[in-house]
Amino acid sequence: MAILVTGGAGYIGTHTLVELSDAGYEYVVLDNFCNSDKKAIERVEGLTGKKIKIYEGDIADGELLDKILNENDINACIHFAGLKAVGESVREPLMYYKNNVIGSIKMLDKLMERGVKKIIFSSSATVYGDPEIIPITEECPKGEITNPYGRTKSIFEDILMDTAGADSELTAVLLRYFNPVGAHESGKIGEDPSGIPNNLMPFITQVAVGKREKLSVFGDDYDTPDGTGIRDYIHVVDLADGHVKALKKIGVLPDKEVPADKGILIYNLGTGRGTSVLELVKAFEAASGVKIPYDIAPRRAGDVAKMYCDASKAGKDLDWKAVRDIDKMCADSWNWQKNNPEGYNS
Ligand code: NAD
Ligand code: WQD
Repeated sequence: MAILVTGGAGYIGTHTLVELSDAGYEYVVLDNFCNSDKKAIERVEGLTGKKIKIYEGDIADGELLDKILNENDINACIHFAGLKAVGESVREPLMYYKNNVIGSIKMLDKLMERGVKKIIFSSSATVYGDPEIIPITEECPKGEITNPYGRTKSIFEDILMDTAGADSELTAVLLRYFNPVGAHESGKIGEDPSGIPNNLMPFITQVAVGKREKLSVFGDDYDTPDGTGIRDYIHVVDLADGHVKALKKIGVLPDKEVPADKGILIYNLGTGRGTSVLELVKAFEAASGVKIPYDIAPRRAGDVAKMYCDASKAGKDLDWKAVRDIDKMCADSWNWQKNNPEGYNS
């Protein structure tokens, strides 16, 4: 038995492969490397001491999926593959709908046809829009999403729900990630954005390593204690562990399947704690010993003031909890960046 991990060469995927190996799971990876580097897979192999079976190609390629399903005894899929840059999705909406929605539908169709009916899907806190309730529980209705990327996540959640409504064998876990940061503590794998980082933590680490001059803080006039945006940062290794716990929840164990809940299960994966931009800068400076110069810039379109979750449902149902704090997130992000100033091409 093996897990099909789509997008396994990416940031969250690589960390999840390590946790899957530690937990004793077998897996194969499908990735087209549109936003990742083959060296990331080699690094995972170095960490786990195991050769990874990797299929290079697109999730929309039915023939390739047939080949993977013929060559391996796949019983579940963790579906990370997707494009994730919010700004790019505004400029190239069709590319995002094609890749994240049409690609995922084609993949789901093939998996259903071939009887692989256990799926863990990388969703996002972005589906809550500007949340009605803080901390955000899974009961909080989906909000008005401000960009095509976020809509692709929400649409594919709905597609999984409709499909599960029509086929009671389909079990899908929708994991709504909050803000993943940090890196494996070995410093061997981490986030390696191409071009100018969109997200706060990689921007900070690139300032620290001298690749960028200073950070622009997007707005200091939000209704928050220091005026800057508050987010629920979660260490990527805790997030990766959430996937292992989700597999167990749906009865997928390393060596066997056991009866378990079916249907759609939705979980927030975050720490439940909010951290402002300026608090994160301070924590990073303390962890790294490097000063981060910044200036205050206008608010970024589409940003909300506060997002943090109530993660107690995942705590109770999955026996999962984020255990790494902001200081550890900063220390591990910095360890990765300073050891790999040019990412995987260092
Ligand atoms: P990433 O870009 O590092 O990894 C995604 C991987 O998918 C890459 O290796 C890429 O090459 C691959 N891929 C993309 N489209 C593909 C396709 N059509 N066929 C095959 N492979 C394809 O991103 P990540 O940060 O690891 O995110 C993983 C998933 O989690 C994504 O679906 C993302 O939308 C979601 N997510 C990420 C965040 C975040 O902040 N990182 C937050 C919430 C949700
Ligand atoms: C965090 C805070 C910014 C950069 C995004 C996606 C979301 C999810 C996670 C995939 C905000 C501020 C940022 C900078 C700044 N991804 N900031 N200067 O926007 O919460 O979430 O990534 O699903 O869908 O929208 O994360 O890291 O971009 O921003 O001041 O250079 O940092 O305004 O308050 P965000 P982020």
